[in-house]
Amino acid sequence: MALITKAIKGTQDVLPALSHENQYVEETMLRVASRYGFHEIRTPVFEHTELFQRGVGDTTDVVQKEMYTFEDKGGRSITLRPEGTAGAVRAFLEHGLFNEALPQKVSYLTSCYRYEKPQAGRLREFHQFGVECLGAPAPSADAELIGLAHTIFETLGVGDLALEINSIGCPECRKQYHAALKAYFAAHETELCETCRERLQKNPMRILDCKSPVCSAVAADAPVVLDYLCEDCKTHFDAVQAHLDAMMIPYVVNPRIVRGLDYYTRTVFEFVSSGIGAQGTVCGGGRYDGLVEELGGPHVPSLGFALGIERLLLVMHSQGIEFPQPDPCMLYIATMGERAALAAASVAQDLRASDFPVEVDVCGRSLKAQMKYAGKIGAQYTLVLGDDEIDRGVYALKDMTSGEVTQIAADEFLETFIEKAILAMESDLKEMFGLEEK
Ligand code: HAM
Repeated sequence: MALITKAIKGTQDVLPALSHENQYVEETMLRVASRYGFHEIRTPVFEHTELFQRGVGDTTDVVQKEMYTFEDKGGRSITLRPEGTAGAVRAFLEHGLFNEALPQKVSYLTSCYRYEKPQAGRLREFHQFGVECLGAPAPSADAELIGLAHTIFETLGVGDLALEINSIGCPECRKQYHAALKAYFAAHETELCETCRERLQKNPMRILDCKSPVCSAVAADAPVVLDYLCEDCKTHFDAVQAHLDAMMIPYVVNPRIVRGLDYYTRTVFEFVSSGIGAQGTVCGGGRYDGLVEELGGPHVPSLGFALGIERLLLVMHSQGIEFPQPDPCMLYIATMGERAALAAASVAQDLRASDFPVEVDVCGRSLKAQMKYAGKIGAQYTLVLGDDEIDRGVYALKDMTSGEVTQIAADEFLETFIEKAILAMESDLKEMFGLEEK
């Protein structure tokens, strides 16, 4: 086969055999988030480039090196979203949601695009589940948000994730910290990469998350921001920890977490796995008290996090977590001849409309090939229809597990099948909840 092209490097197809895993984690996350009052927002996949330049920050790796930016036919600079926060905040402002009752709590499932070097857990198109809580200044909001991420992992059965938290202070305490960083990095200026030499003047904190190994080595001994927090930021961070303790959520304070995006203030956090290689940060987030103003709105202290779906699935696979299987085919109708095909189409249509998964032959295959296919898709019941069954008006329904065959009058088939199927489902449910032995 000579394919004319393949999928773009750093992108992934999710095939039907595995898409139920994505659906399961995505549905679970939206459902758990709704228990905390978060409801879904959907924003466009592309935005004006300046949204990310201003929002994410023009000295970040994301903006400087990784954005998919292009000019559209109208000459505007457009960027595929590298993350979900900036778009959510733009929508919050554009639709005047800051005039509604605060906090506004939104959740989202989005594809994101970053031109990074692909490796395990690092893609150029990846997917995030995220939440943003807009208009919540109290430290209890930080802990509630971390609690939400914790509950999502717990609900999905994901263990062994380390929660690391830090405070990176407010613009006030950061002035002194920036001065200390500048002094430290200035002494190592010749060792830094070109981008970081520029960052030294504009935003020395960004040197701390440069991906170059040389810059990372220099950054390892740099001053830490926790030593420079003002009284208010210290009190806030202490209160966040008190709430986490009250909620019995284990964490460690890691003074080296600074996150790679410019909008963060005060609390930042990450959930990190040690089981999936170098790209172990499954979830990251924090407070961004200045972002709404930065994008032209009022002062609305806010916070959020995003969780990488692909990394989460890597962790779940590495931990052997089982996923609920999609509903199998309940009935396969094999047919011989035109009259049988018409009868099968009618039965299948009615049962599917009543929510039963049913399949019929759509390939014109031999009976033997049809039954082989029914076995492959794991059909629970089969029905073989030919001229004889149509003439006699009696259908033979076969239970593929027990081998039992039931003769059913054609005009009672729908009702009888539905009754049988419901009884089987009830028995499965009872078994699942340990109410009755099968
Ligand atoms: P982030 O740390 O850049 O934060 O990304 C969040 C998560 O997205 C990461 O922890 C990781 O699981 C996943 N991720 C990031 N880059 C990639 C990649 N190249 N391939 C695969 N997965 C990736 C943000 O995006 C912030 N917007 C989070 C946030 C929301 N902060 C406040 N609100």
